[in-house]
Amino acid sequence: MFDGDPLIELHDIDFSYRGVGGGSVRQVLRGFSLTIARGECVALLGPNGSGKTTVMRIVNALEFPDAGTYRLGGVPVERAAVERRNSAFAKSLHQHVGFVFQNSDTQLFCPSVEEEIAFGPMQMGLPEDEVSRRVDDVVSLFGLEGLRGRASYRLSGGEKKRVAIACCLSLNPDLLVLDEPTDGLDERNTDIVVDVLRAFVAAGKTVLISTHHQDIVERLGARIVRIEPAAE
Ligand SMILES: Nc1ncnc2c1ncn2[C@@H]1O[C@H](COP(=O)(O)OP(=O)(O)O)[C@@H](O)[C@H]1O
Ligand SMILES: [Mg+2]
Repeated sequence: MFDGDPLIELHDIDFSYRGVGGGSVRQVLRGFSLTIARGECVALLGPNGSGKTTVMRIVNALEFPDAGTYRLGGVPVERAAVERRNSAFAKSLHQHVGFVFQNSDTQLFCPSVEEEIAFGPMQMGLPEDEVSRRVDDVVSLFGLEGLRGRASYRLSGGEKKRVAIACCLSLNPDLLVLDEPTDGLDERNTDIVVDVLRAFVAAGKTVLISTHHQDIVERLGARIVRIEPAAE
């Protein structure tokens, strides 16, 4: 499933957030379209509140458009299929798409970094030796050897971000979606994130990133997609 190309096709999407009880409505996206081919690195740029995070939440099937269509690898992504109990569709989708939230604290919840990274592959039902192999691989990729046994909530912001990305990569996704991943990172941690993303794309994988940092866009050689706030 989800093996087609283009990988992402968002077509003519409308999206509004609804207040409690369906009350106040705030339209965020109007007629928004975006196509991403396999192997592309795309940077979503736009002012605060323009809908970057919303687009990423739709791509990760955490929100669903009011109108328009979303296809992942040629397969329509619809609320009913994703929200069905024990949905094989949702499971498969989350194996293909990794999401690195802007705030790492919402993503990390295990007692140790090692368990944090092992969590996804274990949920996928991989055998124990394969889980250990994947943990070892991403630990060395991110230089996390010294942090393996540490509690995630005690790490610095940059360390947390590296662990959050490592967790996503341990699932070997086709697409990595990152919401402002270098926000608040120092130079060294930014360099690590940029290097890992470049290597990921060089391996034929796909990246969708939002950022306010022009230099990151250039270093990634990303295609820029601008998003404007929907007019009231
Ligand atoms: N859960 C929510 N409920 C209501 N409005 C929201 C919610 N999340 C975001 N918004 C609003 O939607 C708009 C787009 O937000 P967002 O996608 O986070 O933009 P960006 O990531 O570009 O800053 C903003 O006006 C924001 O206040
Ligand atoms: Mg945002």
